[in-house]
Amino acid sequence: MGLIPQHFIQDLLNRVDIVDLIDSRVPLKKAGANYKACCPFHGEKTPSFNVSQSKQFYHCFGCGANGNAISFLMEYDRLEFPDAVEELASSLGLEVPREVGNDNRPKIDNSLYDLMTKIANFYQQQLRTPSGQKAVNYLKNRGLSGEIAKQFGLGFVPDAWDSLEKLFGSFAQNPKLKQQLIDCGMLIQKEGDAARVYDRFRDRIMFPIKDKRGRVIAFGGRVMGDGEPKYLNSPETPIFHKSNELYGLYQARQANRNLARILIVEGYMDVVALAQFGITNAVATLGTATTASHLQQLFRTSRELVLCFDGDKAGRKAALKALEHGLPQLREGRDIKLMFLPDGEDPDSMVRKVGKEQFTKLIEQSEPIFDFLLKHLSAQVDLKTVSGRGQLVHLAKPYLDKITDPIYHQLFSQALAETSGIAPDKLDSLVSQSSANSQSPVQTVSNPQQMARTKAVSQKKVNKSIQLAITLLLQEPQLGLTIDGYDWLLSLNQTGPKILHKLLEIIHQNPNLTSGALLEFWRQDKLYPRLAEMAMIEREARIKGQEAQELNDCMAKLLTEARNSRLDFLQQKASNKSLTSAEKAEFQQLLLLAKGQK
Ligand code: CTP
Ligand code: MN
Repeated sequence: MGLIPQHFIQDLLNRVDIVDLIDSRVPLKKAGANYKACCPFHGEKTPSFNVSQSKQFYHCFGCGANGNAISFLMEYDRLEFPDAVEELASSLGLEVPREVGNDNRPKIDNSLYDLMTKIANFYQQQLRTPSGQKAVNYLKNRGLSGEIAKQFGLGFVPDAWDSLEKLFGSFAQNPKLKQQLIDCGMLIQKEGDAARVYDRFRDRIMFPIKDKRGRVIAFGGRVMGDGEPKYLNSPETPIFHKSNELYGLYQARQANRNLARILIVEGYMDVVALAQFGITNAVATLGTATTASHLQQLFRTSRELVLCFDGDKAGRKAALKALEHGLPQLREGRDIKLMFLPDGEDPDSMVRKVGKEQFTKLIEQSEPIFDFLLKHLSAQVDLKTVSGRGQLVHLAKPYLDKITDPIYHQLFSQALAETSGIAPDKLDSLVSQSSANSQSPVQTVSNPQQMARTKAVSQKKVNKSIQLAITLLLQEPQLGLTIDGYDWLLSLNQTGPKILHKLLEIIHQNPNLTSGALLEFWRQDKLYPRLAEMAMIEREARIKGQEAQELNDCMAKLLTEARNSRLDFLQQKASNKSLTSAEKAEFQQLLLLAKGQK
């Protein structure tokens, strides 16, 4: 099937009313200009879930869930994007059109899920056969109860090259099935003889990996002895994307109506063992580091994430890596903590050693993200010396830059100021100065430090203008219609101005867009979460009716910046005497304009 055309999606969003849609599933109460309810995506007693009719957008200030009508159906009814579109369309009595020809995405064959489920059941049954006895013994030896093995659907695959063919019947009769089993990673084609296939998994304990909706999408298989590799996992397939999935998330959501906290561990066995001990909120990444996408998903379900690591150096390194993804996602109502186990222990061995109560205590004592970061960075410098304290600021800066939430940014700055003894206001200029330096390598003024400082200040102002302009457009798209001529934005050659340009272009082409419909253009973009948030924030000092003026002011500032940076460029070129005659004329004109501004 081809792609759903963007114009149809826009048409749908235009016709449906998000308030009706949500109200039919989660009763809404009018509150001022918006509608409110207790958030359906996390547990709460006072409503922080807001729906804006004018923006056609919802946002929960508690858990950060947000989106338009399509997003709501995806999250609430747990639908994939095309299914959510189908659902909306059919509620309006519309047929979903498909573009022909230009669909490059791999098609997902729904029957792959059925196949994986059949295989998982088969592996489970194998535990009850004579050859499966050694697997049962292995699981028992590792202290797993039959009950927990059943709950996680653990199974056994016999020591054979053709278990799947035995299960499904001869592949010669059914080439389509054979291809599907290759597609979902269960069969491997023989090198040099692609017509012949064999089972990827042989003689292993099998852990079925489920997606959020409980469908089996992959397997992890563990050897029972000392063989290599210890764990063999399904490869990437159309239904399995390792860096998006978490082992145990489905079970954790089943076991807990409200998941206030999620523990992120490393191994399959850790998740299962913890569950057996009654700690049912653990999930594991699948042999990969924790990714931004993992954290993003988990924050949809829970407000507090505790990352559990080994106490050794590798554990610390992994923690830092995870923090890089975590810091940009911090905001009001979200918390990340770190837990380090004693050397040589993993959650599985630890919970067996100390029991549920003690392990729960350890979780509760986990370290707040900033405490860990400051401690870790401070350990690398000598805080007794001035230069050591300066070094600390420089080490901390890349982390500080990653914190986009203003309150958390402030909190970490303060903590940093206290530890380094550098006053918070000084810290700010120190930090922005070095960040501006890294962005403007071309310097044409004799005093580079002075230059860097002015640049830093002006860059800060520019960033503010860009942010404000984007926010204004996201919140009230029609404001964009007052702006003519914006192609010069592209000459600024940065992400912000490019987004601004795209926003203006879309708004001019679709003059009746709501915020929710506008954001739809970024659904696949990694910037989507940030933009969605900007669409909902309450802006300070908002004077009704002044928005158009505000936007115009921003654009004027940016235009000046665009001219100045062009001027810088031409000046540089002039000093090399390499201006063309057209550039010379432009240079003269820009110089005049610049004088006029002063
Ligand atoms: N892993 C993997 N491939 C390997 C080894 C490990 O994918 N060859 C992943 C698995 O997801 C595993 C996790 O990394 O669960 C942690 O590995 P490790 O600490 O070696 O194993 P444990 O979880 O402790 O497993 P066990 O207790 O069964 O030895
Ligand atoms: Mn282990």
